[in-house]
Amino acid sequence: MKGIKIILQGGGEHAKVVLDCLLDEGANVLALFDPKFSGELFGVEQRGQYDPLFEPDSKVIVAIGDNAIRKKVTGVTQHSFTNAIHSSTVISSRVSMGVGCMVLHGAIIQANTVIGDHVIINTATSIDHDCEIDNYVHLAPRAVLCGRVKVGEGALVGAGAVVLPGISIGAWATIGAGAVVTKNVGDGAVVVGNPAGPIQNSKLKSSR
Ligand SMILES: CC(C)(COP(=O)(O)OP(=O)(O)OC[C@H]1O[C@@H](n2cnc3c(N)ncnc32)[C@H](O)[C@@H]1OP(=O)(O)O)[C@@H](O)C(=O)NCCC(=O)NCCS
Repeated sequence: MKGIKIILQGGGEHAKVVLDCLLDEGANVLALFDPKFSGELFGVEQRGQYDPLFEPDSKVIVAIGDNAIRKKVTGVTQHSFTNAIHSSTVISSRVSMGVGCMVLHGAIIQANTVIGDHVIINTATSIDHDCEIDNYVHLAPRAVLCGRVKVGEGALVGAGAVVLPGISIGAWATIGAGAVVTKNVGDGAVVVGNPAGPIQNSKLKSSR
């Protein structure tokens, strides 16, 4: 990443971590674009609304933690994309990865894993062999995927969750922080706990 001209879409909390990663790796980060922010972050200008004509030969990373918003913003981004990968990560040479991915401090990715586009592999996440991670997934800090796990588009695997070998997680599903996932999870489902299951909402229970 040394010397590559990069701009970030997003200026919030996730962008802060991604920018830190990029600056540590010697990238030339020119600006952040996010209508909600102005001023500067770590000495890099926050320029507000995205400008598709700004430094057209620079590469973009959409550094937005929310998967649905990240997908929407990638759809209107006209620059080409690149990846942000911290040098403290351990990534097998037999891993395939798309574009726009963020592989943050201390993450490990084992052999034959396939990763799509705009995926967040957050701090100290561990992905074992032969996993398939679709586009716009977010694997939160210290999530652990055992071997052969499949994660569908836009799913969130919460902080510290563990997904057992061979499990499939559906598109846009949410795995709660600290969950242990022992069975397949359907599209759009929200599961928590050990073993992971639907949220037992006390308000719903008391109204029955
Ligand atoms: C699972 C999750 C999405 C639920 O969020 P929510 O829909 O706003 O749910 P609420 O906070 O209203 O909680 C609903 C119930 O589920 C319980 N609950 C929420 N998250 C839980 C979790 N991770 N494990 C166990 N129980 C959980 C709450 O205690 C509450 O129980 P109650 O109804 O008996 O009081 C969220 O709590 C979560 O774990 N998100 C992942 C966060 C994360 O790792 N982000 C990464 C940032 S980098």
